[in-house]
Amino acid sequence: AAAESAPAIVVGSGYGGAVAALRLGQAGIRTLVLEMGRLWDTAGPDGTVFCSTSAPDRRSMWFRTRTEAPLATFLWLDLVNKDISPYPGVLDRVHYDHMSVYVGRGVGGGSLVNGGMAVTPLKSYFAEQFPTVDADEMYGTYFPRARSMLGVNTVDPAWFESTDWYRFTRTSRKAAADAGLRTTFVPNVYDFGYMQREAAGTATRSALAGEVIYGNNHGKRSLDKSYLAAALGTGNVTLHTLERVRSLSRAADGSYLLTADRIDTTGAIVETKQYGCRYLFLGGGSLGTTELLVRARDTGTLPDLDPAVGAGWGPNGNTMLGRANHVWDTVGADQATMPVMGIDDWANADNPVFAEIAPLPMGFEHWISLYLAITKNPERASFTYDPASGTVRLGWTAAQSAVSSGMAKKLFDRINLANLTLYRYDLFGSTSKVFADDFTYHPLGGCVLGKATDDYGRVKGYSRLYVTDGSLVPGNIGVNPFVTITALAERTMARVLAEDAAP
Ligand code: FDA
Repeated sequence: AAAESAPAIVVGSGYGGAVAALRLGQAGIRTLVLEMGRLWDTAGPDGTVFCSTSAPDRRSMWFRTRTEAPLATFLWLDLVNKDISPYPGVLDRVHYDHMSVYVGRGVGGGSLVNGGMAVTPLKSYFAEQFPTVDADEMYGTYFPRARSMLGVNTVDPAWFESTDWYRFTRTSRKAAADAGLRTTFVPNVYDFGYMQREAAGTATRSALAGEVIYGNNHGKRSLDKSYLAAALGTGNVTLHTLERVRSLSRAADGSYLLTADRIDTTGAIVETKQYGCRYLFLGGGSLGTTELLVRARDTGTLPDLDPAVGAGWGPNGNTMLGRANHVWDTVGADQATMPVMGIDDWANADNPVFAEIAPLPMGFEHWISLYLAITKNPERASFTYDPASGTVRLGWTAAQSAVSSGMAKKLFDRINLANLTLYRYDLFGSTSKVFADDFTYHPLGGCVLGKATDDYGRVKGYSRLYVTDGSLVPGNIGVNPFVTITALAERTMARVLAEDAAP
């Protein structure tokens, strides 16, 4: 029996979880949010909530003895990573056989660590990926609602053209233009007014101090400052942190039972708790939600889940790479960490790629242009439960990653040819590695809308069980995903609250 119960429980406090919590709270439904990470609201001994990227400490990563930054090396020297002591830090890197996945841990999920790029996908590609969703309604109602709640804004173009902090972006834009490629500004949830004050010396630096993957101490409108603040403000939402939901099942009366481990800051389990609820919303992200459901189906605690649970996963075609510019094409010692521009070659039917121009703030001139390419890689993989080890595995292969890097290479070969420039070979650990296609920031799918769920995120086989996060997106969305995840969650909540509420 459940020791503690609530009408509604939300697992996870990223985009999907935060939207669910707010809309439930506003509807007057008492809601409990269970989040495995900590609440990031208290300053450490250095006076800041998050640690810096240049001197990471235990706050940087989720129970590690050494940081695992995406850019492992520079000139093959392991300059970037540092030894740390284990702690529930804000960034996790989950390792599967041939793919590792970066995710945020804490109240706010990925919003605490991400680059803030708030991109709405092309309507035509959205419609291709979600054929059963009314695209007009999405673009007329739910995307605008998501953008306004998230606090999306754009960099002032005049400031962008003049500031040293975006010289790296202008240099990459020029290299793209020389190859006849189009670039486009991308919006962000980082407050650009704040950033201009940072540059003017009137506000404490955050994006201009290298902060991003281990958290921003200022400027960024992460979910704890938007959706989650509003959710708690309804008075109906309670949040439990450092509680990891381990398993799901259903009681005879049709309510859901959850088992959660409460951990302390050493990672030790200090209590195992039982929760009960009538309505269960899963917002643990592509990995968290899919793992819970695959485990529940295959261990028999929710045996009627659809065979499509676990399928349709992809890394959004992510590939990271660096190019070396000519000495006269400087990128600047000063670089803002919030990307504001992408190379948009998605319309190229032979090789669709959207490549964001990424910063590499090292505090000195290094002539490197860094990119995160999002490619239209059609490959998908499945999560499966391995009874021998009791773990959930991801079947993604290196050959599937090679499809992403092959597409990125086609685009950047064009740029290098037009500019007579070369790739950088020293950024990702081994001497020959140009394309980092073995990690992703954008895990998508596993519980795909219309396949493992109905067209609104109601999980097939069970009533009052919902998915609201990135696991609904079928492996690729062509742009950075959180605006899409947020808008789909808004659509699910509007429908569920109108149709499924208790009599
Ligand atoms: P999300 O991962 O945000 O939240 C899931 C939450 O559930 C986490 O807080 C997790 O701890 C918790 N959880 C999981 N399992 C649990 C369990 N069993 N029990 C309790 N809690 C559990 N996107 C974008 O659009 N623009 C960008 O610029 C970037 N940049 C970027 C940089 C980096 C470094 C990363 C890691 C990611 C990005 N992203 C991004 C991706 C974006 O952050 C991501 O798509 C969303 O955070 C996914 O939102 P979800 O709601 O699906 O899960």
